[in-house]
This record gives sequence, C-alpha cells and structure tokens, in this order.
Amino acid sequence: MERTLVIIKPDGVRRHLVGSIIQRFEAKGLAIAEMKFETMTPELAKEHYQHLTERSFFDELIDYMTSGPVVYLVLVGEEVIDIVRKMVGATKAADAVPGTIRGDYALPGTENIIHASDSRDAAVKEIARFFPPFDINKPSEKAAK
Ligand code: TYD
Repeated sequence: MERTLVIIKPDGVRRHLVGSIIQRFEAKGLAIAEMKFETMTPELAKEHYQHLTERSFFDELIDYMTSGPVVYLVLVGEEVIDIVRKMVGATKAADAVPGTIRGDYALPGTENIIHASDSRDAAVKEIARFFPPFDINKPSEKAAK
C-alpha cells in the first residue's frame, strides 16, 4: 500500500471546498490515514517549495501558502500517488482537464486549490515534513503555551 500527502491550500479552505474535495477521495475509495487543519509556517512552506526558490513567483507562493489554514491529509491505497495526482489535474489551469479538482475549480495563477505528492520519494519526505513522528520525550509546544 502506498501513502501520499495532500494539502487543501488556503484558497480551497476559503472557498469552502474542503468537503467537496474530501468527498471525491472518499467516493474513489481511498482511505484517510491522517488529517489536520493548521496554518503552514513560512519555514515549512519554504522547505516544501525549495525546488522553486529561484522562480519569480516564489515569494508570492510562500505568502499565499501561509495566508490561512490548510487541510493536510495522508491518503492510503494501491498506486495512490499516481491516482491522486490524476484526480488533482495539471498545474497550469488551462491544461487542467474538467473532471479533475484543478480543472473544475482553479483559474490561472498561483492559487490552485490543492497539492499532492508527485512521486514515492516526495510522498515519504512530505509526510515526514507535515506529520513528524510523535516523540514521547519531547515536551509538547501546544501544552507549554
Ligand atoms: P509545482 O511543484 O511545479 O507543481 P504542482 O503543484 O502541480 O506539483 O509548483 C508548485 C506550485 O507553485 C504550483 O502548485 C503553483 C505554483 N506555480 C506557479 O504559480 N507558477 C508556475 O509557473 C509554476 C510551475 C508553479
């Protein structure tokens, strides 16, 4: 069984698309292994998009990704990485086919509703990045406040 990381981005949350998007994954038969609702820190956003550091839209992308809460999901299933990427659709709005999430909801621009891991390597790194393993010896930051 494979696992993949999905992020419903701040525009997906603002536009009240969380339920519709999760419904698509559930209807497809994919299982939700983890889920949380949180605002991404600039540190994590920069790490997540480190492959785009040199691009002109990088600062805009980081501002957008940290502009409000996102929903993080870990989905599980056979060949789930490729299946979810197909359901998400192409990065560029004009290439995103209707029936895909971006094809149905996204217009041109940086705001494109959703992220999904694009390979096994990326999935392993991204799941560890956003769902770090629980360390019983580490004091909880939330409890400390
Ligand atoms: P990328 O990792 O290339 O695509 P994907 O999200 O499909 O895996 O790009 C990350 C995000 O950066 C993308 O979702 C939206 C933004 N982006 C732009 O705004 N303009 C661009 O030309 C590209 C390639 C990405």
